[in-house]
Amino acid sequence: MGRVMKRLRKIIFPAAGHGTRFLPATKASPKEMLTIVNKPLIQYAVEEALEAGLNQVIMVTGRGKRAIEDHFDVSFELETVLRNNGKQDKFEEVSQISRMVEIVYLRQKMALGLGHAVRCAEHWVEDEPFAVSLADELIIGDVPAMAQLREVFERTHCSVLGLMEVPREHVSRYGIVAYEREADGLFRLVDMVEKPSPESAPSCYAIVGRYIFTPRLMKILRHAVPGTNNEIQLTDSIARLAKEETVYGVVLQGQRFDAGTPLGFLLANATLGLANPQFGPEFRKHLLGLLDR
Ligand code: G1P
Repeated sequence: MGRVMKRLRKIIFPAAGHGTRFLPATKASPKEMLTIVNKPLIQYAVEEALEAGLNQVIMVTGRGKRAIEDHFDVSFELETVLRNNGKQDKFEEVSQISRMVEIVYLRQKMALGLGHAVRCAEHWVEDEPFAVSLADELIIGDVPAMAQLREVFERTHCSVLGLMEVPREHVSRYGIVAYEREADGLFRLVDMVEKPSPESAPSCYAIVGRYIFTPRLMKILRHAVPGTNNEIQLTDSIARLAKEETVYGVVLQGQRFDAGTPLGFLLANATLGLANPQFGPEFRKHLLGLLDR
């Protein structure tokens, strides 16, 4: 009889990348701290995880990423000033961030690839299932993306990846899957390849930075070797996992923004800015004025 799977409660946020697609903004500030309207990307991602019941958080950071730790810490001076000045609303908003979640931080000393970043958390994960979330992919929908994955994981006890269809000319930016469609709409992943050319891509379904894994993935990552771009790719180890166990893909519902690129970032800000109840209508007026020119 198989062993009973432990409860899913851990999530890894790899946040050690150089943010090369967003230079020079990311020269001295982490790309995870890029702001959509008034909140950094990493806070959106942590809130999404908490809404899916994932409250044991590990951030894999690197040099120059201190701002992330400060963001989720108590800001004693700021909180004192806000309170003394009677700005109770702002005080609540700021202090709530430090109470939101306990985070373990560890450093990936060299940016050797996403697979390597995830492997850095091996001892912390032990033999539990775990999620991975890439904060530069912002996904907004009625049901948080991680909760959509969790629903499939709880039902199947299998690893599950968030997918979205992308134009064929964009496949070389992503991990792309080969799949067989099951009766209930789930994709059973038979293979996947990191950043294929449009001609060689097995489909147009991309892995969009939301994952839940059985503990087996960590064991496979131990033996991972560099792949595309000479980096230890997470995708290669998931492909191996899919040869050993069932791995599902689920097409995520919601709007996705690749906010780690300038265009995706602008689109995310425009979309969430327009939806903002406080200043959305005024923002719309300004944008329409610009478009009329
Ligand atoms: C990473 C993954 C890739 C995935 C993408 C989603 O690539 O390696 O499989 O499709 O995130 O954003 P990166 O964007 O780090 O190059």
